[in-house]
Amino acid sequence: MSFPKHRGRRLRSTPAVRALAGETRLCAADFIHPIFVVEEASAAGPIASMPGVSRLTLQQLDAEIERILNLGIRSVLLFGIPVLKDATASSALSDRSIVAAAIERIRKATDRLAIITDVCLCSYTDHGHCGVIKKEKVDNDATIELLAKVALVHAQAGAHVVAPSAMMDGQVAAIRERLDHAGFIDTCILSYAVKYASSFYGPFREAADSKPSFGDRRGYQMAPTNAGEALNEARTDLEEGADIIMVKPALPYLDVIRRVRDTFPGAPLVAYQVSGEYSMIKAAAERGWLDERLIAMEALTAIKRAGADRIITYFAPAASKWLAEMP
Ligand code: PBG
Repeated sequence: MSFPKHRGRRLRSTPAVRALAGETRLCAADFIHPIFVVEEASAAGPIASMPGVSRLTLQQLDAEIERILNLGIRSVLLFGIPVLKDATASSALSDRSIVAAAIERIRKATDRLAIITDVCLCSYTDHGHCGVIKKEKVDNDATIELLAKVALVHAQAGAHVVAPSAMMDGQVAAIRERLDHAGFIDTCILSYAVKYASSFYGPFREAADSKPSFGDRRGYQMAPTNAGEALNEARTDLEEGADIIMVKPALPYLDVIRRVRDTFPGAPLVAYQVSGEYSMIKAAAERGWLDERLIAMEALTAIKRAGADRIITYFAPAASKWLAEMP
């Protein structure tokens, strides 16, 4: 059918008709809200490179949880910032870790949230790498044993979902085995299956104090040049027992989100709109160069349209508010 019978503009004539014809719709339950929890009160406060995002103490968690529940958000992703950092990430392995305490606190406050925890070592190691170092390299097989221990600590504290982000081979299998062995058969694994070695993580490394002190993460995170490889990463993680898979970052990798979505239609797919994606919008909006609300909603819509079921985003509270205000 072509012009004049087909007139594309008919479906764009009023806001209500446009809503009728809309293919992609966001809602607050699509968003996963990242939270940074500090062990030491002096480390709490605003993160300079991420305006609107703060590092919170355990006490401050209660108000934050109430705030986001009122906005309709249903899940959080926890990151811990410990006092002690050492070569083997021992403060992540302790059952008194800051993340364990945060999980327990949230579980006491509500049963309406899915609690997801980031499982990695980079905020807990003195060198800032995601695993233990042997011969100047991150040792894969020693690291996955530690990641499994961290995941178990989180599960024991009451996490619903553990999310390994270290990009170590076999980390999902190691975690699944450890959890099952300890009886945590219902604890889900959200795997950071497709995680690129991206410069868009810059502001996060300030937030989580996790910048590597030497080298970079290109020996374990994926090269931005590769998309086919992403399908291998997603496949192996699903085979190892991942319940949910992730692509990260989001907006610069929409093609990857789409390919993973189409190749694995049965797996819930999460995309992570990372710190750099957030801070770029905030910075341009502060200068009056872009409209924060319109740009943020357009980016989130694009990520969902590309095939993400859920989006981890620092805009979660603001975007939920904007959605509630829409006519
Ligand atoms: C931990 C981790 C990182 C992010 C999430 N988990 C940092 C990294 O890999 O360097 C980045 C999140 C963001 O930039 O918002 N490994």
